[in-house]
Amino acid sequence: MKTAIFSARRYDQALLARANQAAGHELLFIQDRLSAETARLADGCPAVCVFVNDRVDAEVLRLLARQGTRLVATRSTGYNHVDAAAARELGIEVVRVTDYSPHSVAEFAVGLLLAVNRKIARASMRTREGNFELEGLMGFDLHGKTVGVIGTGKIGLIFARILRGFGCELLGHDPQRAPSFEQLGGRYVDDMPALMGDCDVVSLHCPLNAATHHIVNADSLARIKRGAILVNTSRGGLVDTEAATAALKSGQLGGLAIDVYEQEASLFFQDLSSTVITDDVIQRLVSFPNVILTGHQAFFTVEAIGQIMATTIESLTAFEQGRPLQHRIPTN
Ligand code: NAI
Repeated sequence: MKTAIFSARRYDQALLARANQAAGHELLFIQDRLSAETARLADGCPAVCVFVNDRVDAEVLRLLARQGTRLVATRSTGYNHVDAAAARELGIEVVRVTDYSPHSVAEFAVGLLLAVNRKIARASMRTREGNFELEGLMGFDLHGKTVGVIGTGKIGLIFARILRGFGCELLGHDPQRAPSFEQLGGRYVDDMPALMGDCDVVSLHCPLNAATHHIVNADSLARIKRGAILVNTSRGGLVDTEAATAALKSGQLGGLAIDVYEQEASLFFQDLSSTVITDDVIQRLVSFPNVILTGHQAFFTVEAIGQIMATTIESLTAFEQGRPLQHRIPTN
């Protein structure tokens, strides 16, 4: 089936092509992001494959529908970038990748936490310049500290299990309680700001939707334990970045470790090192010594990418053959 693959980086092209060897779909690789301007590149493609910063809003979906697209497959777990209601109205099916190595993201979140707490990136930059001074590099033991896990689904649970191994106490916040979180010794707290007040570390692992947008905001940050570290490997829109910046400036927030950023769509997955970045918020953030920022790479392991590509190809084949779509996004 002819499929337009948007935001196709070199690794996407190589790995999707490999996953497609047996299925033999006609893959049209497009480096640009999907938008109202680039939608025409998918003309005549029954399927379109996208990534997290592609625009899949009502306008773009209408353009795609007019050109014959009937399936949108996102190479991600999160589908907040897709207007699900508009797709439904237009009769476009939307599939995602529900099951791929949640270890990739959980392990990366722990890595970011260690990096910001123990100032690993700063220390490495120093030693490259022959500076072996320890001043300013002191962190704290994670052992015995309290960690808040917001969203105890697949990724949050693995994160919790790893932190349990470090000897941390676990608090969880999730409308759907997971027995395995409680079996780890974790305790659920329904009032999220209250949870934040008790935690030395808070890590976000819930999806971005209307209920979770800016779940970390000026109010909840005012209640966070002074000096706590916030980790976000989930979605940028969960955190009000300006409020987080203010909390870092006042010292209320002790550290920020993020792999996602609210305005990442115009920045991430491209080399902007030779251009002037006009986003003052991110420039301010990366100037702080207690902030570590990576460009949405938590999923980026051999295992996870392999599964993402295999599931995507499987969804294309199921759609083409008229079989049920196992990875359809939830309809509510
Ligand atoms: P999951 O669906 O297994 O778990 C999400 C959990 O969040 C569920 O238990 C759900 O009940 C909970 N939740 C929903 N609303 C909530 C709320 N208001 N407060 C607290 N918890 C709430 O999803 P999974 O696989 O663990 O992924 C979590 C998120 O991680 C994804 O939605 C995605 O945004 C992000 N992600 C980021 C990646 C990266 O590369 N940085 C890669 C993959 C996922």
